[in-house]
Parts: sequence; structure tokens; C-alpha cells
Amino acid sequence: MHPPLLNPSLLAGDHAHLAASAAHVAAVGLPWLHLDIMDGHFVPNLSFGPETLHALRRAGNKLYFDTHLMLEEPQRYIDAFAKAGSNLISVHIEPPFNHAETLARIRALGCQCGIVLNPGTPAAAIESVLPLVDLVLVMTVQPGFGGQPFRRDVLPKIRQIDTWRRERGLDFRLEVDGGVDLATARECHAEGADIFVAGTSFFRSSDPAGMAAAVARFGQA
Ligand code: DX5
Ligand code: ZN
Repeated sequence: MHPPLLNPSLLAGDHAHLAASAAHVAAVGLPWLHLDIMDGHFVPNLSFGPETLHALRRAGNKLYFDTHLMLEEPQRYIDAFAKAGSNLISVHIEPPFNHAETLARIRALGCQCGIVLNPGTPAAAIESVLPLVDLVLVMTVQPGFGGQPFRRDVLPKIRQIDTWRRERGLDFRLEVDGGVDLATARECHAEGADIFVAGTSFFRSSDPAGMAAAVARFGQA
């Protein structure tokens, strides 16, 4: 069992002051930062690239960079993101590229690796790569934009993946992303998720430290 952890998404930070938004996450005492990378093809939006991560490192940020690549051809960019300071790099299962080879390449670059699936993609699509990953990211919105409503229909899929994890003695972390606030994070935790990406709800919270502490207490009496 991995301890529950709130993982803020910088996409909802202040894009004129991303270093300040990332520093705010560190000041709250959280260890991870979620970085959403979009290419305008796999998702209908653009965000930021490896130079932004590199600049955050240059600015002194030491958080664990959880890099979510929403790219049609992620295999072309993993070297750049590893070099820019990523600690973990996740790629989607939906686009056609060599997933096993790409996950192995991420590890060879010294990063941890993750596989991501969209709300409409069945759990079976990632079953064969489960032994190859450090993290499974289950999207609880269709990716592309922050601030969308949580998709409750995804909850059974979280349970299915957690069941496989336990039955097969696997040790990956199980992350959810999209429309996550304290209430929906609690629902995902009940199904087996342990890392909770939060963009809008974290950066708009009047008490982000309280939110982080509440997540850390999930599962305790
Ligand atoms: C969606 C991104 C998410 C997004 C979450 O495309 O992958 O990480 O930033 O934002 P909220 O928490 O606002 O739904
Ligand atoms: Zn994300």
C-alpha cells in the first residue's frame, strides 16, 4: 500500500509566474508536482515544454516532477524531458507507438515510467504493460483542459486496476487526474487510488495545506 498523496497540477498555476506556483506547492510541504504536456494533436490544446521544466529546475525547484505527456508521438520527446529534470514520465496507451520500448527507454534514462489511459479506454488495454511501469494514471476527464467535471463512470476501472495490482503482487502507484477535489479524491481512494492530481481545486483552495493533510489522512480512522 502506498500512502495517499495530493499531487498539484501546474497547469492550473499562474502561467506568468510558474516558478512561484511551483514554489507554492513546495511551501505547502508536498513532494510531487504534476506537469501536463500537450501537443495540440493528441489533445486539442497546448501547454508548455521541456524548457519550462528546465527553467523550474534552474529556479531551484526540487519537487518530484511527474510529467504527463499528452502527445501523439511521446517517444520523440522523452530524452528531452528526462534531460530537463523529469523524475517520472508517463505516456498514453492510445496512440500507436512501441509502448514497451518507450517505457524501457524512460527507465534507461534514469526516470520512473507510467502508462496513462483515457476515460473511454478499457483497463484491458494496459494489462500487458502493468509489469513494466512504476505508475498507472487513470484519467477521470477527457484530457486537454483543466477545470472539467469528474467522471464517476471511471471508478470501476480504478477498482479493476487495483485488484490486478494486488492479485499479481505488482507495486505501481495508482494515480487519478481530472476533476479531482477532496470529495472525488476520497471516492477514488475507496476504489484503490493513491495519488491524486489536483489542478483547479488545489490552486483555488483557501487552505491548500489543509487539503494536503486531509488527503494524507485518507484511510485513517
Ligand atoms: C487534463 C490534465 C490534468 C488537469 C487537471 O488534461 O491532464 O492534469 O490539469 O486539472 P483539474 O484538476 O482542474 O481537473
Ligand atoms: Zn495530467
